[in-house]
Amino acid sequence: MTLLNDIVSADGRKGGSGETLAIRGGRPLRGRVEVKGAKNLVTKAMVAAILGESPSILRDVPDISDVAVVRSLLEVHGVHVTDADEPGAFVLDPAEVESAHFEEIDAHAGASRIPILFCGPLLHRLGQAFIPDLGGCRIGDRPIDFHLDALRKFGAVVEKLPSGIRLSAPNGLHGANIHLPYPSVGATEQVLLTAVRAAGVTELRNAAIEPEIMDLIAVLQKMGAIISYEPNRVILIEGVDRLRGYDHRAIFDRNEAASWACAALATDGEIFVGGAKQQEMLTFLNVVRKVGGDFEIHEDGILFRRGGELKPVIVETDVHPGFMTDWQQPLIVALTQATGESIVHETVYENRFGFTQALVQMGADIVVHPHGLQEGPRRVPRRNLEQAAVINGPTPLHGADITVPDLRGGYSHVIAALTAEGESIVRNVGIISRGYEKLFDKLAALGADFDVLG
Ligand code: EPU
Repeated sequence: MTLLNDIVSADGRKGGSGETLAIRGGRPLRGRVEVKGAKNLVTKAMVAAILGESPSILRDVPDISDVAVVRSLLEVHGVHVTDADEPGAFVLDPAEVESAHFEEIDAHAGASRIPILFCGPLLHRLGQAFIPDLGGCRIGDRPIDFHLDALRKFGAVVEKLPSGIRLSAPNGLHGANIHLPYPSVGATEQVLLTAVRAAGVTELRNAAIEPEIMDLIAVLQKMGAIISYEPNRVILIEGVDRLRGYDHRAIFDRNEAASWACAALATDGEIFVGGAKQQEMLTFLNVVRKVGGDFEIHEDGILFRRGGELKPVIVETDVHPGFMTDWQQPLIVALTQATGESIVHETVYENRFGFTQALVQMGADIVVHPHGLQEGPRRVPRRNLEQAAVINGPTPLHGADITVPDLRGGYSHVIAALTAEGESIVRNVGIISRGYEKLFDKLAALGADFDVLG
C-alpha cells in the first residue's frame, strides 16, 4: 500500500513538498512537450472504477501528485492499483472494496478535493462513506453545499463531524430531480457517479458540460450506464443495477496545453504541444488569435508562437464553453507583454488573482479590482463575482524572489520568471506537481535555464 507521505510524484519529488528554483529568464522557450490525460478527468475516472464489478484500465494517466493522492485513497479502500500493459496505464481492481480506517482516510485530509467524489460510489458499494476535510488550491471558499444537497436528494444521510463528513444510505439510493444553482464541475460529477447505480431516473439540470465531464460520461457508458445529454444543460441518467470495469484512454489535459501555449507567447518562443486537440480548445484558440498569437493545428498536436506584436484583449472566465478559469493565470503573464490595456474578469472563483502580486513585484503593471470595474464591456453578468484584473503592457519583467501560491498561479510564476531578465528565486514549486507532469524535464527540453535549489 502507498502511504501518503511516501508519494513521490512528477520528477521523482515528494508530493506537495516545497521546493525552490533559481530561474534565469529572458530567453524564448522552444521545442516540443507532450501532454497526457487530463488531471480533471483521470482522478474522477479512477474513482468511477469503484462502481464496477470487474477491473478497469485507465490509460494516459499523468505522473502528478493529485493522481498519487487518489491512488492512495483508493488503496486504503481496498482497490488494488497495478501497472497495465503500457506506460502510464493503471489497472484498478475494485473486487475487495472495504471501509478504510479513520486514520488512513484522515491522512489524506487537506490533500485534494477529489475525496468528495468517493461518496456515491462508496455508498453504493458499502452503504456508508467517510470523507475527510478537503484540500485543493486555496482559491476561494470552495464549498461543497451543492454536493451534499444532491446526495441528500438521492436519499443519503449526511452527518458533519469536526474531522470530516460521515454519510450513510440506510434505504439505498434512488434517482432524483436536481437543479444545480451553478453548473459546478464537481457537483455534476457527484451526481453522475451517484445516479448511475441509483434506483430509477435522475434528471440533472444546469449541469456542467466541460469536455472532461463528457469523457467521464463516456467512461460510465463503457461500464454499462445509461446517460443521455439533452439540450440546455440537462443530463438524464437511468440507474442500472450493475456496472462492469472499463478500458479508457483519458482525454488530453486542456489546461496543461493552454499553459504551454501561453509560455510560448510570453517568452516569444515556439512550442509544439503534442497531444493537444483543436475541438476542446476552440475558445482558447480564439483568444490566442485575438491576442496576436499564431497556431498551427497538426494531427498529433498544436504548435504555438507569436504572430507579431502581442495585442491586448478583454476576456471573462466562465464555465464551458467559455474561457476556463484555469487558463487566465498563464494568459495574464503573456498579457504583460502585449501593447495596451487588457482586462480579465474572473467569474468562477472569488479569489483567483492573488498570484498577480508576484508579477507586479517583477515589474508588471496589473491592478486587481476586487469589486469589479465601474464601467467596461462584459459578456454576460454571471454570479456575484465581479473581480477584474487590468493589465497594462508591455512591461519588461525583472527577476524577483517569489513564492508559489497555488497550482495554476504557480505555473504562471515559473513562466513569468522565464520571461523576466535576470535571476528569480521561485519558492514552493512542489505544489505545481499536483497538475503538471515532469515539469522540470519539460522546461529543460524547452531550453529553460534553471537550477533546483532543493
Ligand atoms: N461551488 C459552490 N458549491 C459547491 C461546489 C462549487 O458554491 O458545492 C462553487 C465554487 O466555490 C466555485 C464554483 O462553484 O466558485 C465552481 O466550482 P466547481 O465545482 O465547478 O469546481 P471544482 O469541481 O471544485 C474543477 C476543477 C478546477 C477547475 C473548476 C472549474 C477538478 C479537480 N478541479 O473544480 O480545477 O478550476 O472545476 O472548471 O476537477 C485546477 O485544475 O487547477 C482546478 C482548480
